[in-house]
Amino acid sequence: MKCWQAADLVIQLSSSSKTKPDVLDFGTVFTDHMLTIEWSVTEGWQAPLIKPFGNLSLHPACSSLHYGIQLFEGLKAYRGDDNRLRLFRPMLNMNRMANSAKRACLPAFDQSELLECIRRLVEIDQDWVPYSGSASLYIRPTFISTEPSLGVKKPTRALLYVILSPAGSYFNNDSEAISLWADPKYTRAWKGGTGDCKMGGNYGCALFAQYEAVDYGCQQVLWLYGEDQQITEAGTMNIFLHWINEDGEEEVATPPLDGIILPGITRQSILELTRKWGEFKVTERYLTMDQLCSALKQQRVKEMFGSGTACMICPIGHILYQGENLHIPHQDKNSHLTSQIAKELTDIQYGRTSSDWTYLV
Ligand SMILES: Cc1ncc(COP(=O)(O)O)c(C=O)c1O
Repeated sequence: MKCWQAADLVIQLSSSSKTKPDVLDFGTVFTDHMLTIEWSVTEGWQAPLIKPFGNLSLHPACSSLHYGIQLFEGLKAYRGDDNRLRLFRPMLNMNRMANSAKRACLPAFDQSELLECIRRLVEIDQDWVPYSGSASLYIRPTFISTEPSLGVKKPTRALLYVILSPAGSYFNNDSEAISLWADPKYTRAWKGGTGDCKMGGNYGCALFAQYEAVDYGCQQVLWLYGEDQQITEAGTMNIFLHWINEDGEEEVATPPLDGIILPGITRQSILELTRKWGEFKVTERYLTMDQLCSALKQQRVKEMFGSGTACMICPIGHILYQGENLHIPHQDKNSHLTSQIAKELTDIQYGRTSSDWTYLV
């Protein structure tokens, strides 16, 4: 079926610009415009539209509301020291979005054309990209079924839209290591499920466990999987262990993409960067709580950290597991590995190092 083209973009500019607040709580403030693209099985994709930011009007039977037939993405635009705006590896987000759409039975779209429409949207709202080396503009592509009936079926109507929100740091105090609560009674994702797709249901279902973690005095859930309690993800981040492995080798390890792990763009970038350095073994492998506990006892753990677009790299300080508060060695953001990774990635994102990982707006 014919897809839309960015060349067909219709632009309706807002007559005024909202005030930009100083304090940026994640995802609470939105820019002046949004992108919407409608699809129906009978008419295919309509022309993309950039219009003033505003509420959606949805049929109450809409199947994204009833059955969670929807998905989203998350990426950022960074204002470089040279005042140019850059996106970081955005085609990887477009690709992940296309995979989620396929799994959600939502229609296919042209990834490059969507990226060009997003580029135009960011360009129009460019004043909203913070003038700061630590803040950025969060881009939230969203794709929902607008099927106006209660049957559980493949949508015949859908809406793809993109909203923008200026973002500071995701966690309140990003210089401190976070604490995790690990209890096998909750599962984030399972084999054959949708844990490798960015669908809202994965996040809504995780909320209850997240609040139990907070009741235990922890900030995030360490998601375990299976009888052997595999370590899978930390909250909404991929997870890395830097240690001396069972064979005495220095290793940076993260769980493999076996269907229950979200294929993070930061994860992929960290793997590619550290493999290029060639300073230690870099592995995608299973890691279990038993392996972690014995490595901690034998003082073989150097550090653990989470990775994601929101926080980039987040050191892990404690894991509450079976009533014991496991101390994870970390040297906050000044540790060699995390600070080196953070520096190389931010240098690329803010244009201090030229790289084909950036996409100019
Ligand atoms: C469950 C989960 N894991 C990992 C990540 C990190 O992915 P990325 O590096 O693409 O932001 C995210 C964020 O998108 C996530 O929601």
